[in-house]
Order: sequence, then structure tokens, then C-alpha cells
Amino acid sequence: MQQSYILSFAEGVTVNAPSEDRIEIVMPVTYKQLTLSRLSSGLRQIIDILASTGATEEALAEIVTEKDGTDALAKLYYHLMTFAKHRIISYSIIFNGKRLATLAPNSALFSFSHASINPQSNYVLSRFAYIHMEHGEMVMESPLSHGKLSLYGQEAAVMTAELARAQTLAALCDALPHLSPDTVLLFLKMLVGAGFACEVKDGKAYPEESAALMQWDFHDLLFHARSRLGRHANPYGGTYRFHSKIEPLPVIKPAIMEDAIPLYRPDMDALSQKDHPFTLVLEERKSIREYAREPITERQLGEYLYRTARVKQVLCSEYQDLSRRPYPGSGAIYELELYLTVQACRGISSGFYHYCPERHVLEKISGLTEAAMSLLEDAKSSTGMEETPQILITIAARFQRLSWKYESMAYSLILKDVGVLYQTMYLVATAMDLAPCAIGGGDSDLFARAAGLDYNSETSVGEFLIGSKRI
Ligand SMILES: Cc1cc2nc3c(=O)[nH]c(=O)nc-3n(C[C@H](O)[C@H](O)[C@H](O)COP(=O)(O)O)c2cc1C
Repeated sequence: MQQSYILSFAEGVTVNAPSEDRIEIVMPVTYKQLTLSRLSSGLRQIIDILASTGATEEALAEIVTEKDGTDALAKLYYHLMTFAKHRIISYSIIFNGKRLATLAPNSALFSFSHASINPQSNYVLSRFAYIHMEHGEMVMESPLSHGKLSLYGQEAAVMTAELARAQTLAALCDALPHLSPDTVLLFLKMLVGAGFACEVKDGKAYPEESAALMQWDFHDLLFHARSRLGRHANPYGGTYRFHSKIEPLPVIKPAIMEDAIPLYRPDMDALSQKDHPFTLVLEERKSIREYAREPITERQLGEYLYRTARVKQVLCSEYQDLSRRPYPGSGAIYELELYLTVQACRGISSGFYHYCPERHVLEKISGLTEAAMSLLEDAKSSTGMEETPQILITIAARFQRLSWKYESMAYSLILKDVGVLYQTMYLVATAMDLAPCAIGGGDSDLFARAAGLDYNSETSVGEFLIGSKRI
């Protein structure tokens, strides 16, 4: 007899029986409830089996037939369909009494599909599939899949490793003599059906080599799928999962240096009267990669930082302290910190500084060290500038300020925050007749070294150049 998948309730599904003729099935994450009443004794047994060891569809049908007669089969299939529709069934492969793999729904769009395997075709693992540890289990996931595959034992590991090389079902069976050909077929069908492996046609892995998928990097598609809703069942949004476990980081980064350089504070009332009109600023904004002979001044830099990034107000809140600043920020948390590599600025000696947005001062970390010079060199080559930038503003993130509150989406919010800060920096520079230019990438390891920071706690997520504008 051909081997089949073992059906059982997915992890997190709970079954309650509040009375003799009523069964409640509670779904994970949503806690929605399916209520079943007046079930036959055969169907009650099926629910017990699905909630414990699980069984194949054929075995479940035999039990129902034996207990309730063949007329009850229609009801069994109706219930199984309902469970599958609610994504509460997982599918396992058992070999020699040992569990090899279990596929569970990971999104509302999951549907179990029996892929048909062409004996002439080669099959290979998807380049988007990855294995990682989750709650002590080895789990395969992919941004192309709506399911999550738990892998058990060395047979499952060897089978997935074999599929790193494209091969036919027959070759796979030869390479896995410890598994029955039926089991290998079942496993391959599961991998292909769930989007973890694909068929190779004319030397190309389908559908991976469609024009759209070819242009996705593995990490970009994974980041996209995991930081948006839809393709995973992970907790999402402001969950405050570390509340009462880890102290949140303070709203203002503690002072790095006792000694700080106070910066010029512009008169904002006077500025709002005489500043360039908003539409003019928006229309005139552009990236400028060359400077005037005279460098930017301390007064301009002070005004620039005050208008873009100062703390206007600290807001105490029940969970973590927040603040108000000129640019918008996710949850008013403000995880971004500005570090300045000053090569030329009248009134401020060259060196590497941190900007304290609350005190509106510069804290000098070092002179222009080798690492700081490398940051400037990288910025120069990223912008194709002929001269060395006057001031490089590196935007770093105190990551845990945001991830203390937000789950699944924290890093994507950081990048959005960098975007709005970039635009604010562009607009203020335009209004002040300065030369601004954003930079798309930089070396976060180099920056962490220059600033003496722990890469996992705080490092660069954006770079921006500012200098004097040629009139
Ligand atoms: C996120 C982002 C990254 C950028 N990266 C770079 C860069 O690495 N090098 C560069 O010379 N310009 C960079 N720019 C500037 C763009 O090239 C520029 O905004 C674009 O060409 C439009 O020109 P404009 O800013 O003059 O309107 C970047 C701009 C943004 C918003």
C-alpha cells in the first residue's frame, strides 16, 4: 500500500469538550473557535486522534466506517475539509515509526498541495528555502511558502542536503537507501508542493527563474515577507514582548563625554517669518556633490542640526519615554543617533563626533582616525565626488529602542525612519543654501569600530553628506 501523510491538529490548536455533545476547537494566534455538536462516536474518536498521534486519511476513514457505517464518511470528509480550510491541520511523514517531517500552515493562504513528480525531471532545493532553529526544532521556511516544515532526525537532514544538487526522484532514492522509495517520493512531493523545492526545466529552476523572482535577493524577499503581514503567523506590531523582562533603553543616549561643544541655536520664530517658502524649498531641493571653496561654518552646522534633529520635548509614557523632534519617527521612540565625521568646518576642529539632540551639543569621540578617514573615503567613492566631503553625517540606530516594543517589523521601521530623516535633512539643507546628498549604503562594521560601538546594539543604517554650496 502506498504511504500517505499523517494528519493531525497543528501546534497550538486546543480541543475542549465542555459537555457530552459539544467540542470546541480553538485556533492558535487568532483564538477563533470552531464549535462542533452532536458528533457521532466515530467522529469524536477522529477529533481525539487528530489532537494526539494523528493518522492517515485512509485510517481515519476506516475508523469512521467501522464505528458509524459508510454513511458517516461524507461527514468525515466535510470536517477534514473544514479543518484544512481553517488551516489547523498539519501533515507529517513517518518512516519506521519515526517522524521525519511535519508541514504546518504558516499563513491564511496555506493550502496543502500534492505536487505531481515527473520521473524524468530533476528537482532542487529553492534558493529561497532556509533552515534555522525555532523552539529547539530544525525548521525549514521560505518567503515563497505559506507553510513551515519541521525536520526531524538525520534522514530528513540528509534528504534536504541531497537536494542541494538537482537530481531525479530515482537518483534521490539511490542516494537515500535507508528510506523507502515511497517515503522519498512523499517527502519530495511535500517539498515541491509547499514551495521549498522546484522542478528544473531546460537547466532552469522553475518558477525561481521568472524575471520577477530572479531580481529578488534572498535576504530582501525574506525581509519583505517577514516584516509585512500575510506570509507568516508571527506576532506583529507593538507587542511590547520585553516589557517587565528587559529595561527599555533611555529616550536620550547617555552622554558619551563630559566635554561637549555647545552649538548655535537659531531663532525659530524669526526663521518662520523670513524662511524660503515651502514650495520653493521642495522645488529647489536636489543632491549636490560639489562644494564652495569656503567650508560650512559652525553656525550653519548648529542651525542645521537644530532644525533637523533636536529634541523638542521629552514625553514620559507608561511603557517607555518618548520625544518630539522635527522629523516624524515610528512610535515617537526615536532610535536614530547622528555621528559626524568633520573633515572641514569653520569653527569646529576636524574629528569624529556624536550629536546629542537633547543638549544640542557635539561630543568629540576622536580625531580623524584611520577608521574615520575610511568612512569619509567610502562616502566620497559612493557619491563619485572629486573632493573629500566636508561633513559626513552617519545615522546609527539604537536597535533595541524600537525592537523592545515592535515585533517582526522593527528593522523595517528603522529604515523608514532613515528615509524621513533624509528628506528632512534635504529640505533643511535646501532652505539653508547648503549642499546635501544622501548615500545609499555604507560599512556598518567600520562605523561600529570608529565609534567604539557594539554592532548588535548600535551601528550605522544611513549616511548623509552636508557641505557649503557653491553659489
Ligand atoms: C535613499 C537614497 C540613497 C542615495 N544614495 C546615493 C548614493 O549612494 N550616492 C549618490 O551620489 N547619491 C545618492 N542618492 C541621491 C540620489 O542619487 C538623488 O536623490 C537622485 O539622483 C535624484 O536627484 P536629486 O536628489 O538631485 O533630485 C541617494 C538618495 C536617496 C534618497
